[in-house]
Amino acid sequence: MEKSNEAAGRKSPEKEKFSEILEELVADCNDVLLKYLPDPSDMPEGEAPASTVADAMRYSVTAGGKRLRPLLIARISDLYGGRRALAEPFMAALEMIHTYSLVHDDLPAMDDDDYRRGRKTTHRVYGEGMAVLAGDALLNYAFETALTAFDAVRSPKEGAAVVRAMKILARNAGIFGMVGGQCADLEAENRTDVCSAGDGAALLAYIHSHKTACMISSGFMIGAVLAGAPEKDIDLLEKIAFEIGIAFQIQDDILDVTGDSDELGKAVGSDERDGKATYITIHGLEAARRDVRALTDSALQKWDGLSVQDGFLRNLLEELVVRRN
Ligand code: IPE
Ligand code: IPE
Ligand code: MG
Ligand code: MG
Ligand code: MG
Repeated sequence: MEKSNEAAGRKSPEKEKFSEILEELVADCNDVLLKYLPDPSDMPEGEAPASTVADAMRYSVTAGGKRLRPLLIARISDLYGGRRALAEPFMAALEMIHTYSLVHDDLPAMDDDDYRRGRKTTHRVYGEGMAVLAGDALLNYAFETALTAFDAVRSPKEGAAVVRAMKILARNAGIFGMVGGQCADLEAENRTDVCSAGDGAALLAYIHSHKTACMISSGFMIGAVLAGAPEKDIDLLEKIAFEIGIAFQIQDDILDVTGDSDELGKAVGSDERDGKATYITIHGLEAARRDVRALTDSALQKWDGLSVQDGFLRNLLEELVVRRN
């Protein structure tokens, strides 16, 4: 059945259902982001001089992207019976922080890239100073936005859950999370002692877990915390997120070597140009492919131990292994 559908260029009913749910979740994320982002053409009274930075924030956020992190918050919150009114400010906030990390990552002082999400990078359109400010503004506005979840709180238990979610959001984005990983990533550049086979494995593990897995961990944990999921599940989700996050960054490193820039919406080959320590430079392409699969399998096994089940998210984790962007 599936074969004949595919032979006819159609998706199987299961794949159609998967795509439908994914599209719906991405649309939800986009709606939520537009609801919270400042509108450069309709700034609050007296704030018009900040329109350019608001415009640059919107440019980078609305360029697209997979919306993986906020859609995880939404779906996992739904799965545990959470309220979207609590989840939405965090969905917007996490994607704002993620987008800020990309805007800064692309700056000439960091990875020096010209394309992102199929568009010219923010610094190429607005200039470096404005791109720095757009990143700063997205990071700060993310916290302003997440704090509005308190307005939707209906009980002390929900209030405590919002505080806990804020702590997860803050920690994973900061010095002991993404920023720490970016620090090590930058310092590893062009260092033959860490970039070559074998030598830098421990440092690379730090880089990948911090710069990427931490932000993905916020995606997995925040919806569960807000919905009051069992502690055992929250612990398991953190472990799943770690493995999926590492696999996600290995796949990103693979795509920088083997991907297609049109599909990716960003340049290929920029890691080699920048002398980056990647999974490929340290472990090789074959090990990279094998480990993405192995980490994902291990995460899927843990996934099956959760107290709730969701075929959609299970499929999504599978799809990340073979993603082309
Ligand atoms: C890119 O993240 C940066 C990494 C952590 C590898 P994504 O691959 O999720 O980028 P978007 O959001 O889809 O553009
Ligand atoms: C970036 O890793 C991770 C961030 C925290 C932004 P990369 O530098 O490999 O991400 P891309 O390939 O530019 O998206
Ligand atoms: Mg980088
Ligand atoms: Mg980069
Ligand atoms: Mg990369």
